[in-house]
Amino acid sequence: MAADLVLAIETSCDETAVAIADADGNPLVSRIASQIAIHAPYGGVVPELASRNHSADLRPLIDSVLREAGVAMHDIGLVAATSGPGLASSLLIGDTTAKALAVGLGRPFYSINHMEGHLLSPFIGRGGEVEPHVALIVSGGHTLLIAVEGTGRYRLLGSTKDDAAGEAFDKVGKMLGLPYPGGPSIAKLAESGRVDAFDFPRSMINSGDLDFSFSGLKTSALHLRARLGDRPVAAELADFCASFQEAIVDVLVAKLLGAAARTGARLVSVSGGVSCNLRLRERIRAACESAGLEPALAATAYSTDNAAMIAFAAASRRRAGIPPSPLNADIDPNLKLA
Ligand code: KG4
Ligand code: ZN
Repeated sequence: MAADLVLAIETSCDETAVAIADADGNPLVSRIASQIAIHAPYGGVVPELASRNHSADLRPLIDSVLREAGVAMHDIGLVAATSGPGLASSLLIGDTTAKALAVGLGRPFYSINHMEGHLLSPFIGRGGEVEPHVALIVSGGHTLLIAVEGTGRYRLLGSTKDDAAGEAFDKVGKMLGLPYPGGPSIAKLAESGRVDAFDFPRSMINSGDLDFSFSGLKTSALHLRARLGDRPVAAELADFCASFQEAIVDVLVAKLLGAAARTGARLVSVSGGVSCNLRLRERIRAACESAGLEPALAATAYSTDNAAMIAFAAASRRRAGIPPSPLNADIDPNLKLA
């Protein structure tokens, strides 16, 4: 086998993830050692627990991914790791391991921005170059609208002024006593609720810019929670979740269409953990159809944190002629994409 495969490591937060992809970034094997059950009792990620578990899980995960792909270490032609944004103590584990492997193998190392991984994830398996488009990235820590010219050429159009969309889901999930993380829990309950049962604010929907704000929505959820009392009946809880989710979806869809109109883009992509949300996917598909836009939605397997997207970003950067990263490139918990 030619030594042109990509080995990628993602440890920016609470998931230890390793993937092997071909030279074009098409994933051969992508695996995650999830820490969700470890952090669930705390209702959020505990940084020290996250880094300890990355340390324990990463090496065996690399071995098992290589085995599953039927690949030997010397078949790897490029090593990549997430260098930010994220938790410093978590980022360091993947970054250091990847650099050590790159040195040991004598292969180039690419340090990858986690948000670039998300941004490019809808293009995994699509073939060809990353086309110019508008990207909406909705994750636990970020809500970004980006004008994309091609791999590595990004311009920020808008972002959240306060909470990220995923953060709003998670905080309100916690408020409702739902299992962590809140996003999937709220989405599940919302399936049987009415989207117009409660009136939640759509902050900044008519602000005329491409920024977001979700903290008012969170406060409004807190007030409604208090009004419903300690034990809302199941139907009330479902209505709460459906109406709350709809408020977030309304804003995301409106701003994405606004960004496409402003830039003249015909292609729009959606990525990040919140892009798993089925209601969001359905509403984006419908809105794109009415507006004559083409939607590229990240496959759900590549929406939440994973290493296939890091491998794909590294392969795309190499194909675009972007040079590898120096081995003294530091991690950056606040790394910006644009
Ligand atoms: O991209 P991601 O895995 O991690 C970050 O980079 O932050 O995103 C995690 C976020 C969490 O806030 C989680 O609640 C949210 O994605 N999420 C969802 C759904 N699945 C995951 N939010 C709404 N609906 C979902 N089905
Ligand atoms: Zn992420």
